[in-house]
Amino acid sequence: MPDVKLQEFETFESDSPENTELIAGEFAKQLRPSDFIALNGPLGAGKTKFTSGIIRFFCGDTIAASPTYSIMNHYRCGGINIDHFDFYRLKNVYDLESCGFFDSLEGGSLTIAEWTDTVKIDYGKYAAGNYYSINIGIIGSKKNKEKRNIKIEKIL
Ligand SMILES: Nc1ncnc2c1ncn2[C@@H]1O[C@H](COP(=O)(O)OP(=O)(O)OP(=O)(O)O)[C@@H](O)[C@H]1O
Ligand SMILES: [Mg+2]
Repeated sequence: MPDVKLQEFETFESDSPENTELIAGEFAKQLRPSDFIALNGPLGAGKTKFTSGIIRFFCGDTIAASPTYSIMNHYRCGGINIDHFDFYRLKNVYDLESCGFFDSLEGGSLTIAEWTDTVKIDYGKYAAGNYYSINIGIIGSKKNKEKRNIKIEKIL
C-alpha cells in the first residue's frame, strides 16, 4: 500500500523575539505569491513578530505593524504583494469578505492572517498556492519567559 501523506509538520523552539524572526526568515525562503499562512496562538505569542520575520525577508528592514485595528496591512516589495490580516476582531465569513481577504487570496498576493481560528472556515479550499498553518505556543519558564514553541504545518 502506498504511503498516504496527509500533512507535514516541523516544530521549532524560540528563546527570544529575535530568534522567532530568524526562524520566520528561514521559513520565508520557500514562500511564493499565492501562498497562504495562517497564524494562531494566544495573545502576545509572537504572531506579529513571526510576520515581521517574513516581511523582513522580502522587504528588507521593514517592521510589520500589528493590523489588529487596521485589519489589513499591505506591503509591496521586490515585485510581490504581501497582505497581512488580523482576524481578532472579526466574527464571520462576511467580515472576511468585506476586509478583502478573499480578494487577496485570489489576486495572487502572499497572504498572511493572524487569528484565523476566530472564523472557522475551510481555508484550504480558498488558498491558490501552498497553505501553511502555524501555531505559536507560550512555553516560557521562570528561567526564560521568552520561550515559544512554533509548529509549522504544511496542509496538503
Ligand atoms: N520568543 C519570542 N518570540 C516572539 N515574541 C516574543 C518572544 N519572547 C517574548 N516576546 C514578546 O512577546 C510579544 C509578542 O508580540 P506579538 O505582537 O508578536 O504577539 P501576537 O501573537 O501577534 O499578539 P496578538 O495576539 O495581540 O496579535 C512581543 O512583545 C515580543 O517582544
Ligand atoms: Mg499580532
